[in-house]
Order: sequence, then structure tokens, then C-alpha cells
Amino acid sequence: MNAKTPDVSADEWDELTFPRPEENEFDRVVERAITRRGFLGGVLAFGSGAAAMGPGLLSGTAAEAQAAGARFPFAPIPAHTDFTVHVPEGYTWQVLVRWGDPLFAGVEPFDHDSGGSVAASDKVFGENTDGMESFVHRGHQLLAINHEYTNRSVNLPHSDAGVPRDGADVRKLQNLQGVAVIEIRETDDGWAVVKDSPYNRRITHNTPMTIVGPAAGHDLMKTEADPTGTQSLGTMNNCGSGKTPWGTYLTCEENFNGYFGSTAQPQDQKPIQAAEGYQRYGIGANGWGYDYHLWDARFDTSKNPHEPHRVGWVVEIDPTDPARRPVKHTGLGRFKHENAEVVLARDGRVVVYMGDDERGEFLYKFVSDAPFVPGGSTEGLLDDGTLYVAKFNDDQTGEWLPLTPETTGMESPAEVMIFARKAGSAVGATTMDRPEWIATNPHAVEAYCCLTNNRNRGVKPNAGGDEAPVGGPNPRETNHYGQIVRWFPHDDDHAAVTFDWDLFVMAGNPTVHDDAYAGSSNITPGNMFNSPDGMAFDQNGLVWIQTDGDDDNSGDFAGMGNNQMLAGDPVTGEIARFMTGPQGCEVTGLCWSADRRSMFVGIQHPGGQWPDGEGLPRSSVIAIKRADNGLIG
Ligand code: FEO
Ligand code: CA
Ligand code: CA
Ligand code: CA
Repeated sequence: MNAKTPDVSADEWDELTFPRPEENEFDRVVERAITRRGFLGGVLAFGSGAAAMGPGLLSGTAAEAQAAGARFPFAPIPAHTDFTVHVPEGYTWQVLVRWGDPLFAGVEPFDHDSGGSVAASDKVFGENTDGMESFVHRGHQLLAINHEYTNRSVNLPHSDAGVPRDGADVRKLQNLQGVAVIEIRETDDGWAVVKDSPYNRRITHNTPMTIVGPAAGHDLMKTEADPTGTQSLGTMNNCGSGKTPWGTYLTCEENFNGYFGSTAQPQDQKPIQAAEGYQRYGIGANGWGYDYHLWDARFDTSKNPHEPHRVGWVVEIDPTDPARRPVKHTGLGRFKHENAEVVLARDGRVVVYMGDDERGEFLYKFVSDAPFVPGGSTEGLLDDGTLYVAKFNDDQTGEWLPLTPETTGMESPAEVMIFARKAGSAVGATTMDRPEWIATNPHAVEAYCCLTNNRNRGVKPNAGGDEAPVGGPNPRETNHYGQIVRWFPHDDDHAAVTFDWDLFVMAGNPTVHDDAYAGSSNITPGNMFNSPDGMAFDQNGLVWIQTDGDDDNSGDFAGMGNNQMLAGDPVTGEIARFMTGPQGCEVTGLCWSADRRSMFVGIQHPGGQWPDGEGLPRSSVIAIKRADNGLIG
């Protein structure tokens, strides 16, 4: 543990570093209480199938749903608390690739003692796998996979509690993050990486990127090293992902603020910290513990105050062309991006749904000006358009508010994009319970978003001072379980600016609580979980839910076990547990093989000594199959 920066999650760190003032005015408390009572009434009705909760949703008990013929092709499994992976009977799993596995011939195998050499660190599979997507190109199966952040004490086992000792340690951490593109192949021995495939590629914190869109070239994007404001290095804290209809990969920069720090003396810090957006985006003097700023001046905000503006974007990567530079699309706004769910509007315009994962931040949607034409130019399709932010009304309607200089009072489209959070605040967007992944249903015009948890709900405003009252899709004070909101765009068109919404599920613990914290009626002692995070639909229209929650299996979380993956039926509301991960891990990232007979799932920051059973724990991607090699989604 770094003495300066405790070894805490990024969201906990933001809270510690940039504490929000507590609200305690009497009238606000009363107002919240009223809202909450109103909701609790709604919950009771919810359980008995009230129309208020949306058409067809949970219109009966979970048992009735099961009797009606659940579509799950597996027998749900119980919670587990051990250090391995569990899947249902009739399914198998194997490790596909682990942190440190060489992607090229001649690269040294992983060494448990050192955590791998600096020289090999950009030629191996990176750490902390997260969002991923699969592609088929000329008969080759490719996976593009994010490496979100590093467990420093695991990656640098010989440094003192993971604190980088020198520039080489920093370079190793920079190389173990970013993105990997790998070719994979299935043989009689199972799935494996094709070593030395011409498609294998590592993108790190130092890979050259091109910046395009409304903010490209703006003064706030310029640095001494790049006076044009159009060429940056690296993509950082790559959390969720997306895939375009034209076959490229989208990687989303989330907790980028933690990489920056300042070497200025404490008395000189004030003007640096006063820079616009530093407070709102959590750019501090010490960083999260990577200590890049001590060894790499690019990350020292006293020397490069605009460098933080060049991260926090969605980046497009062509997995089929290793020579092609990744592109940062500033038209999609700058915030702590979770994923980028791309879907086409009725007229072919490109719609991108995006969440900003911090307590009380917003949900966004981009709609392109031009339609996508198969085989046509895709230039501008992720930049020239309108960025909207969501406003949810308590009556289960909502609207997308456009973010422009006119609506926000901000000076230019560039500033609207660079400080998208500020723009969202200006138009009165709804503060959300940490929006994580968004997924759209291939069989219905509807979108789902995991609101993972928010212990500040009803307690504190967000970093911009926007209040976070209990209500709407964020109905529980001090929400430590999370919920999944879904919305139904009007006119069955994802480009529509109005929608209806409901909650697909409120996670909770019915063995501990008998109020709203027990969860919605589709939560039972047999399927309970907390903190939904990753999410994707399969071709059959089942929604797969991955968790990143409290796995101590006690108190409020008793009986939930390790983090896990469940399947949900959007029609009946039924939810069933499919997989559990090793203790300590988060389950995140999901995609399928081309033949849909294998499902690839990411295991991030596992505990114990998983999966090798010795030495260091290694974040890995696993492949899950049916024993009869049947379709798996
Ligand atoms: Fe990286 Fe919001 O999860
Ligand atoms: Ca996540
Ligand atoms: Ca999370
Ligand atoms: Ca994570």
C-alpha cells in the first residue's frame, strides 16, 4: 500500500480526495423522506405487478415466471465463496489467456517472482482485463480486450507495497494497461492465443493516438509536446467497450484522473488545482498511487496542465490493422466513460449510449448527423452529431437534453465536450447511482443500464454540487446494492428525444431486509447479488449481468457469495445465476466466439493465487462452453 495514497478503489479514492459537503438542511431531509415514502408504496405495488412499473414487467412472482417456461438453458447455481470458477452442470470452463502470457514468440514466459520484466511488459497480455469484443476478419477470430488498471503490489512484487521505485517501474505499469488485440483459435485442446499472429497488438499508455472531433485542436487540448492539440499518447483506464457496425472496437477511458499528480510545492498547488474542471474531474496533486508524475513529466500537472484534457474519451481501434493509429473521438464527450453501446436509429443514424461512472454523474447519448451506410465512409459518425444527457422524471418518463453552447451557456462546442459534466449540470441532468454498462436488446427497442451502487444517494451532492435526491430511477438512500434501469425510446427509435423508463431489477437481500433493500420481486434468496456492472445481450435476447460488488458474504451481503454472472429474461423479469468467480475478483467483460459455442468472460483482480494455484493472482479471460458443444447464447 502506498503511504500517500491508500490502496482503495478509484471511486473510494475520489471520495477521500475530494470530499463532498454533507447535506443536512432540515427541509431537504423532509423532502427526501416524503419521496422515499412514496417510493416504498411503489415497491409494494411493484411486487404485486402494478402497471406503474411498466408493461409486462414482473407481472407475477418469480415462481410464476419459472412456471411460464423460463428461457434459461441452464440450471442456476448457488453462490460460492471459494477461489475458483463455477458454472452450471453440463458446462465447462478453461483459462484462455492470463496477465503476463506472451503474445509473441521469443518473449519470456511469465515469472511469478518478478511479475515479468519491463522489457516484456508491452509484449504480453496486460493486467486487469475488462471490456472486450470479438471480431472475425478473413477467417481469423480476434478479441480486443481492455486492461483497465494495475494492482501495483502484484505487478511490482519487489517494490515496497507497489510504489514505483523508478522510471522503469512506471514504464512497466504503463505497458501492462491499455488494450490488447489477440488472435485466438480453438483446437482439440481448447482455446488458445495464436502467438505471433500479425493481428496481435498491445496498445499502452504510450501508444500514439489521433484526436478528432469538436475538441481537437482547441487550446485546452494543446501541450508543449503537441502544439496542435491533435496527437496524444496512450489510452488510459480502459473500462467498458463497444463495437461499431463497421467493425471497429471502442475502448472507454474511465478513472483517468488517478494517473495525474503534481510536483509543485504545496504552496504553489492552489492555482494548479483551480484550473477549470480539475475539481469536477478529480484531478489532484497526488494521484491514485501510480506516481507517474514523479517519473514522467507528461503526467505532472504543474508542467502539463492540459494533459488531463486529452484523456476521458472514447477511443476507436481497428482490430484488423495493427498499423492504424487509434482515434480519440471528442464528439462523445469527456467524462469517466464506462462503455459505449452503439445501435442504429430507424433512419440509420448512429446512436451511442454512454454512462459516467461516478456517484451522482450522468447518462449520455450521442446521435450522429449522418446515417451509417454499409461500405460507405464512417468519417464523422462518432463526432458530428448531438451529445445529449438524460433527465428522468418521477412519472417514469424522461428526455434527452442536448448539450450545446446555446443550452449550456458554455463558450464553444469544444468546451462542452471537454467539460461535458459541467454541461450536463448546466441543463439539469439527473444525477445517477453510478452508471456502468449500457446494453441494448437486439429483439426490442430498449436499453438497460446498470446503476451499480451509490452510498451518497440522498446524502451528498455530486462533485459538481448537483443534488442527489432519492427518487426516480435512483430510489434508495445510501444505495449499496444497485439496480438496473431500462428505457423505451418513444416511436421505437433510439434517436427519439423522449422515453419511458422502469426498473428491470433492484438488487437487494431478502434474507436480511423486508423493505426496499430486500430488492424487487425478481430477487430471491437463490439469485441475489449486489452491484451490477458489466452487461450484454445475447442473440436470444437474454441479458447477461456481471457484478463488481461486496463479496465478503456477511451482513447486508450475506448469502451473495463471490462476484458472479447472471442471466435475466427481459420479458418475465426472471434472473438466474450462471457463474461465480474466484473470491476477490470482479466478473467483467463478455463476448462470444463466431460460432456462439463459446462465451468469453473476464475475471479481473482475482484473489488468492487464481488461476495458477501458486504465486501471484493473475487476471484472466476464460472460455465457457457447453459440454455438448451446443450454442451458448
Ligand atoms: Fe471500470 Fe465503472 O467500472
Ligand atoms: Ca465496470
Ligand atoms: Ca464497478
Ligand atoms: Ca474494476
